[in-house]
Amino acid sequence: MKIGIHLTANRHRLRLAIFEKRKMKMLRKRVCVIATGGTIAGSGILGKSSVYRAGQIGVKELMLTIPDISSIAEVSAVQMLSVDSNEITPENWLELARIINMKDSEADGFVITHGTDTLEETAFFLNLTVHTEKPVVLTGAMRPATAVSPDGPLNLYQAISLAASEEAASKGVLVAFSEGIYSGRDVAKINTVKVDSFSENDFACLGYMRDNACYFFKAALKKHTVNSIFDASGLTALPKVEVAYFSIGADASILDGLAENSEGIVVAGAGSGNFSESWVEKVAKLSARGVPVVRSSRSASGFVTPNPFMDRAENSIAGNTLPPQKAKILLSLALTKTSDYKCIKKWFNEY
Ligand code: SIN
Repeated sequence: MKIGIHLTANRHRLRLAIFEKRKMKMLRKRVCVIATGGTIAGSGILGKSSVYRAGQIGVKELMLTIPDISSIAEVSAVQMLSVDSNEITPENWLELARIINMKDSEADGFVITHGTDTLEETAFFLNLTVHTEKPVVLTGAMRPATAVSPDGPLNLYQAISLAASEEAASKGVLVAFSEGIYSGRDVAKINTVKVDSFSENDFACLGYMRDNACYFFKAALKKHTVNSIFDASGLTALPKVEVAYFSIGADASILDGLAENSEGIVVAGAGSGNFSESWVEKVAKLSARGVPVVRSSRSASGFVTPNPFMDRAENSIAGNTLPPQKAKILLSLALTKTSDYKCIKKWFNEY
């Protein structure tokens, strides 16, 4: 009699466990990982961190480096590219934004694996062009998969966990890296070798990851994703914008050269977006040719505000907190909509 009761209780417990497991499976978020290459997929001399080629290992193999990810999310994977991120093109950005916008109904969150060198640029482009409130999280690695102690598996694990979280929704495009959470707008690669190579400079980070849990302390205030007016869907190319780097003695005629081959220019100015009188005069001359010039800064923190001495012509636009490589993206997207300087100035405050 007692043995019979024992067996029934055991069966009941087993059924309950199977039911719980099924329920957990049904509740899991669907995360789509889109791989583009980078050091996270790098392979080279066994044990070395510095001798390798980026973008060699496929996303399916990368997924095998994370234990038990299926308990956190139902993950699908797309191998979009296998490149060093210095080879990413604006056309790749347009395709990436389109893939995410297209797959919006099939996934609860997205992860993009990317080389760290230009990760901040792709993050900002997507922040302005994906129209979803679902989490979109970029990650990468500083050490290739074949190094001693690669950082890719932890970064990918935490990026997937963040993309599967409720907290990451509606916060714009995010970056998960080395246990930090960053906004796609403000994230910057600040170190060329360290594993903890990202920051938001003045703004530090949005929060931290601990294992698979995310802890947010703030959110980015500038417009993004569903509130952005920029749209990649109908575009096959982006207006060309070039960056000019100011330094002592730099010849202002380089601005003429750039204006010949582009629709807009960003100047990496000194301090708060400053440059010499000869450059100010050259910028004013470009106004008549309809070439907008954004003044950003070579400095890592602080910001660039309108300045009547520098912005003598209407085409001279203060770049706010955007570094040159991000000001270039916003100017390029702005030029898909308008050539009105006033409007572009307004967007440099809003985005
Ligand atoms: C790259 O950006 O693709 C190479 C460098 C890196 O991923 O750290």
